[in-house]
Formats: sequence, structure tokens, C-alpha cells
Amino acid sequence: MGCNSSLLHILLLSLTLQLLRVKPDPDPLQDYCVADTKPNQTFFINGAPCIDPELATSSHFTTSALSKPGSTKTNPFGFNVTLTNKVNLPGLNTLGLTLARVDIAENGIVPPHSHPRASEVTICLQGSVLVGFVDTSNRLFTQTLNEGDSFVFPKGLIHFLYNRDLNHPAFALSGLSSQNPGTQLAALASFTSKPAIPNEILTKAFQISDQDVNRIRKNLGG
Ligand SMILES: *[C@@H]1O[C@H](CO)[C@@H](O)[C@H](O)[C@H]1NC(C)=O
Ligand SMILES: *[C@@H]1O[C@H](CO)[C@@H](O)[C@H](O)[C@H]1NC(C)=O
Repeated sequence: MGCNSSLLHILLLSLTLQLLRVKPDPDPLQDYCVADTKPNQTFFINGAPCIDPELATSSHFTTSALSKPGSTKTNPFGFNVTLTNKVNLPGLNTLGLTLARVDIAENGIVPPHSHPRASEVTICLQGSVLVGFVDTSNRLFTQTLNEGDSFVFPKGLIHFLYNRDLNHPAFALSGLSSQNPGTQLAALASFTSKPAIPNEILTKAFQISDQDVNRIRKNLGG
């Protein structure tokens, strides 16, 4: 009995510790911390330091960064993501938020990628977008979003967006639960890292030949 209950305590404690590790950005300790983004900071903290709060103005809390579509012309996948960040919107520093404008060309994709530090909720504002994510049991959840429809991508999971329309661009807006969500594209992380992952790893991992690896690297600009 005593043994069982202490085992239970250990299990609960380790579960609690696990849950505590899955947490969003730390809470701010003040109303705001307008990012001081001048170059060559002499000390480094988790985020950006604040300017003197007395110097904060309304302009620190507004941006037009997302007002215009990003150009999808030069991107091989046909997408462009424009983000708010501590430079174009210094007032968001420490607030645990990012807004992203996602423009996708006709027949373009945002290829499978993940955000290690943020969950994402997206709303389709123009066109129609096939979205999906894969969970850690390798199960796919997918949906076609029409204008006004939303979808949520849980933190860290691989997801994609695809504009199947061959004639019209699509546009979605996403909110992310970190001021620095981070993005890893699965294909680029695997095939175009610097330095490169050795070919023998990729031939085994993807069950393909050496020529396949080289061709994929070349196609992806690696
Ligand atoms: C920042 O540091 C770099 C390298 O030390 C230097 O070249 C640059 O001029 C500095 N910039 C400013 C604004 O001080
Ligand atoms: C995204 O769009 C902006 C604005 O048109 C452009 O300056 C930038 O180069 C584009 N980025 C990519 C990766 O195509």
C-alpha cells in the first residue's frame, strides 16, 4: 500500500514535470516591453530587452507589415509568409504572439513544416486551401478551408497548406502562440542543411538511391 502510493506520487510528479515543460512563452512581468532592437546588444536575454517604458508610443504597437501580399514569384513552392516580429512590431515583445500573412500562388504550397515553439490557428481569407497536419502517431488530419474557415495546427507538428486552385492565388492569416515560433521545412532540413546530412543517411532514411539524393538536393537548391 505504502509502496504503491509512493509509486503513484512519483508517477504524478513526473507527469506534472512533463506538463510543465510543454509551456508557451513566459508571461511578461510588466504591461509591455517594447523591444529595443538596436544592434550590438552587450547582454543577451530570452527575447529582446525593453526600451524605457516612458518612451513607448502608439507606433510601437502598430504595423502595416501585413497589409500587402508577399510576392510568390521567386519562391519555388509558390508561397510567401510575412510575419510580425519584434522589429516591425516591437510592442509584441514578451507577449507570446505572432501574426503571419500567408500568400499562396495558384497551385502553390507551403510544404510540410513545423513550428517548434508555437501552435498556429489559421483563417482562410481568400480562395480555398487544403490544410493538414500529422500527429505523433502518424495520423493525418486534413480539411479544405474556404473563405472564412479556420483550422488549428498543434504545436510542433508537421503541417502544410496547399492552394489547389490553378487560376487564383489564396491568402490566409495565422496567429501563432510565440513571438518567435521558428520554422523548419522538412524537405529543406533533410536535403539542404549546411553542412549537408551525409548521403548514406538520406539513402537509408528515405530508402532511395544516391542519385535520388543528389537529384532532390539539386531540385531544392541545396
Ligand atoms: C556592430 O558590431 C560590428 C562588429 O563588431 C561592427 O562592424 C558594427 O559597426 C557595429 N554596429 C554598430 C551600430 O555599432
Ligand atoms: C516575399 O515578398 C516580399 C514582398 O514582395 C519580397 O520582398 C520577398 O523577397 C518575398 N520572399 C520570398 C521568399 O519570396
